[in-house]
Amino acid sequence: MRLKGKVAVITGGAGGMGRATACLFAREGARVVVGDVDEAAGAGLADEPGEILFQRCDVSREGDIAALIATAEDSFGRLDTIFNNAGIEQPVTPTQDVSEALFDRVTGINLKGTFFGMKHALPALLRAGGGTIVNNSSVSAFANVGGNVSYAASKGAVMSMTRVVAIEYARRNIRCNAINPGVIDTPMNQRNKAIAEDPEAVEARWSEITPMGRMGTGDEIAEAVLFLASGASSFVTGVGLLVDGGRVAT
Ligand SMILES: NC(=O)c1ccc[n+]([C@@H]2O[C@H](COP(=O)([O-])OP(=O)(O)OC[C@H]3O[C@@H](n4cnc5c(N)ncnc54)[C@H](O)[C@@H]3O)[C@@H](O)[C@H]2O)c1
Repeated sequence: MRLKGKVAVITGGAGGMGRATACLFAREGARVVVGDVDEAAGAGLADEPGEILFQRCDVSREGDIAALIATAEDSFGRLDTIFNNAGIEQPVTPTQDVSEALFDRVTGINLKGTFFGMKHALPALLRAGGGTIVNNSSVSAFANVGGNVSYAASKGAVMSMTRVVAIEYARRNIRCNAINPGVIDTPMNQRNKAIAEDPEAVEARWSEITPMGRMGTGDEIAEAVLFLASGASSFVTGVGLLVDGGRVAT
């Protein structure tokens, strides 16, 4: 019960590592509000153990994020932590072929969505006397294989914003950190694999670039998010925690 009595908001929590985190937080005693565009998957959260509320939310729309935070405060009386997790991939494309629309779509969700999440969570966290923010960046902030310029831009920006907010709010009892997952076995990477010319070669390559020789799991990410969201990390702020099987060490 590492989050007993806490209220959490998780974006992109209907699937992938966001869902694993929502379920872990709920098992650890938090009351959780999940925002996601996938309403069918979100509805299924009601069957998971613990208290998880779902609300449709497109993080690229500021009004949707404001409404999500309001739901946490209206339903559970406060907000203690937010996991800004929602994000999308850029289909592998050489930089010269990336359209403005694709660049705007990826950065609109990954970068601007994270900004909106922090902007609207901060007043609620201050009202609660403090709290934590965890942003989902990526190893892409540090290491890439190419073909993902908008994604890498967005994840580098998430790291920069994390540091700025950490400094601004350090004396107001709000800590802001990021996680940097390596290659994780989620629907996002299943999609990446499915559209590849040689899906088996892609999976082999992921293992090859990861010293531990395998993909990570959503549950392994959830444990790292829990560490940063909870009092266990009480003197940690402004960092990116690599959860990447050694990828960036190479
Ligand atoms: N899978 C990886 O290897 C990996 C590695 C590093 C970082 N990440 C990051 O982790 C986060 C989660 O990735 P995942 O692999 O679990 O992805 P996923 O696609 O499996 O799940 C993402 C969830 O976000 C939701 N979502 C998409 N667009 C949204 C929007 N506009 N508003 C609200 N919700 C939206 C989806 O419906 C889905 O439920 C992303 O930010 C991603 O960039 C993933």
